[in-house]
Amino acid sequence: MKPFEVKDGIFWVGALDWEERDFHNFLTPRGLTYNSYLILDEKIALIDTVKHKFVQEMFKRINRVNELNEVNLKIDYVIVNHIEPDHSSGLPDTMRAFKDATIICSQRAKEGICKYYNCQDWDIQVVKHGDELKLGRRTLMFIDMTMLHWPDSMATYVKEDKLLFSNDAFGQHIASEERFDEDIGVDETVKWAKMYYANILMPLAGLVRKKLSEIQELGLEIEMIAPSHGLIWKNPSRIVEAYARWANFEKENKVVVVYDTMWHSTEKIAKAIADGAASGGAEVRLFHTRKDYWTEIVTEILDAKAIAIGSPTIHNGIFPPMAGFLAYLKGLKPKDKKALAFGSYGWNGAAVKEIVKILEELKLDTLEPLMVKFKPNEEELEKAFAVGVELAK
Ligand code: FEO
Repeated sequence: MKPFEVKDGIFWVGALDWEERDFHNFLTPRGLTYNSYLILDEKIALIDTVKHKFVQEMFKRINRVNELNEVNLKIDYVIVNHIEPDHSSGLPDTMRAFKDATIICSQRAKEGICKYYNCQDWDIQVVKHGDELKLGRRTLMFIDMTMLHWPDSMATYVKEDKLLFSNDAFGQHIASEERFDEDIGVDETVKWAKMYYANILMPLAGLVRKKLSEIQELGLEIEMIAPSHGLIWKNPSRIVEAYARWANFEKENKVVVVYDTMWHSTEKIAKAIADGAASGGAEVRLFHTRKDYWTEIVTEILDAKAIAIGSPTIHNGIFPPMAGFLAYLKGLKPKDKKALAFGSYGWNGAAVKEIVKILEELKLDTLEPLMVKFKPNEEELEKAFAVGVELAK
């Protein structure tokens, strides 16, 4: 339970969750972290808390900072950048342990804290965009991050250290003993951040673009970004550039084929489309909605130029696992792609028609759908192959 010194006098005191695999439907094959940070100055500030289950782990790391620095540590400020319970459910225990601490948060966060935790008798100080708080040698500046990704969200910038505590933004869901991007490799960290962006921030691309330019206009020098999940960015430009690419839906020459199947007919069509796309020169990813992780599928869709979605018809509609996947995808609002609906049917092709409707609602550039009665014959498979080649073009 060791703390980790991020910068002189600034410690990581968060928690590692090695076991979580499903974070409200977000696949976390390598677990996740809840990052809290402690700033030692004339006044001491804790940046965010952790999920309630891990609050004792955070306390142990805080106590170790005490021992190492031979101080009798009293926390003056608890900065609540965001109230989602993965960061704030440790707040009641924290406020019991550090009774004199003042909570610093946005107005909306205050409302949320009071609703979640009954406010109790806590001293809560509301801050606005651009407000500053002097700790002694250091100055904290608060940056509004409304809807990135909740209405209450904000970030905290330490002027003297050029360090941005960005909360969820720029985070990754991965548990690791390493703390810096370079420790696991910057490219590897970007890979995990892409999964996080695709599954949490993709629908907010317009706001991400706006916020990136606002931060640029503020002219803040940023040497390090410390998010509330995952590794700390010693190479902040790498993740800021990646966010700009993702928020602009910059694309790879890639076709993603997603299907489900009852009697392998839709599967045969899916594979023929995938073969065609590959022989047309595109990178291809082929996914099955019950065998593959939706988290990974939408990460691949984020920067694909084309998607093909296939389902058999059952009960006059989309096969339920595919219907669930499409509900998930619809919420994430992928943009600016060619899209194809396909599938087999027995006596009507309701599933394909419904998929077309969803793709059109997403304003994707929808091609003529591909429908096959019962089982595809050679001619129909050749047609599916040709559609794949067309998608690759
Ligand atoms: Fe990591 Fe929006 O909570």
